[in-house]
Amino acid sequence: MHEGLAKEIATYEKRTPRSREAHQRAETRLPLGVASNYRAYDPYPIFVRDGKGGRIHDIDGNEYIDFNLCFGALMAGHCNPAVISAVQKKLGTGTMFGMPHDMEWELAEEICKRFPVEMVRFSNSGTECTMHAVRLARAATGRDKIIKMEGGYHGLHDSVLVSVKPKAEEVGDPNFPASVPGGAGIPKGTLQNTVIAQFNDAAGVERLFAKYPGEIAAVIVEPIMMNVGILMPEEGYHQALREITKKNGALLIFDEVKTGAKLARGGACEYFGIQPDIVCLAKSIGGGFSLAAFASTRAVMGLISDHKVFHGGTYNTNPVAMAAGLATFQEVLTPATYEHVNRLNKKLLDGYNKEIGKTGLTAYMVGAGSNGSLMFCPKPIRNYRDWLKVDSELWRHYWFAMVNRGVMAQPYWWDEQWTVSVAHSEADIDRHLAVFAEVAPDLAKAQKEPHAAASSAH
Ligand SMILES: Cc1ncc(COP(=O)(O)O)c(C=O)c1O
Repeated sequence: MHEGLAKEIATYEKRTPRSREAHQRAETRLPLGVASNYRAYDPYPIFVRDGKGGRIHDIDGNEYIDFNLCFGALMAGHCNPAVISAVQKKLGTGTMFGMPHDMEWELAEEICKRFPVEMVRFSNSGTECTMHAVRLARAATGRDKIIKMEGGYHGLHDSVLVSVKPKAEEVGDPNFPASVPGGAGIPKGTLQNTVIAQFNDAAGVERLFAKYPGEIAAVIVEPIMMNVGILMPEEGYHQALREITKKNGALLIFDEVKTGAKLARGGACEYFGIQPDIVCLAKSIGGGFSLAAFASTRAVMGLISDHKVFHGGTYNTNPVAMAAGLATFQEVLTPATYEHVNRLNKKLLDGYNKEIGKTGLTAYMVGAGSNGSLMFCPKPIRNYRDWLKVDSELWRHYWFAMVNRGVMAQPYWWDEQWTVSVAHSEADIDRHLAVFAEVAPDLAKAQKEPHAAASSAH
């Protein structure tokens, strides 16, 4: 570990003793002391007390301007007034019925107006909706295999927890990447049915269709890969995926769990002008509550109507989450919001670029919609294998240094990105940039010092 990082971690430990204590206690009852593996990191994670608007406090009383925003699920900001008011109205009138109600049609209408889809079903998490999307595609085609991108993340079900963060020595042939399980417990048969292509390699997808003729049900892709910082698709990539899937009788699934609300009113479908067969939505559509949706054409969703594909769930469309979702769509995800977050995000990206230029830091910025990422790489990455070369030690130095100065610049982990919310102000961006200006010279200095290269995969 280089000296600058060690110093920042020492400061972090001084500022957050209660988090350390809470984590030690939690470890006795929860594996890793957390409820989701992504929340665990060394030396211990910050335990949160509360949040409002664009800010949170930890249990030691430290305040942070929050650009983590629950892994990008809160473009509405914490406790968005429109969302909270809608939810409060529901709290006294029943929180769960397991029975149909009017808000279901209303929210489905909202989604169909914005995305190129005709019918919608709701669920509670991104994992659930990509699971149902894959099942629908298999049912629609009568085929078992799916193509997913190396390094892509689509949640935790077996079919997609494959080649999410494979190690460099595991990835295999660039033309036919290996299917690497994302942990133990994934059946071998499932692994065989998830074949892997590299992002931005449409020819690679074609090679897989040629290798497995008549066997591939769908290509599932996150239109902008946000599990490796931010990885933009090259010009024509999505058009090519659209044509290849169509030509081969397979479905194209856009996993818009992150991009759906944040990129544009109509998500990546609108942004890239593509009509996929199935769209998956979650995170920021719920305004802070568990809400997800998968949507498609009448023909594909008809498989559910015809009782061929089964979909259910006790918590689906509970009135609290639906009220939050409706308020989010109608009052938060408005043209004015997109104008606001895009403008602030541009200001943030421009400011970072200026400091990178000034300090000679070897890094680049990439942004889309309300998201941005500082990539510790000499040149823009094209795929997951490029991302493996990101300097994770320098990234940790950046993250702890920002946090120690009251800016949670993004979620922990160098495969994530920041989110600018409705609740952030120009002053928040100015403060974020002032802190980065303080930190950037140390990063540039540390980059020039020799230190043990850390592997990017975690
Ligand atoms: C692109 C993408 N798909 C799916 C998921 C899974 O969503 P959830 O955590 O709600 O299950 C995530 C979560 O980060 C995601 O980023």
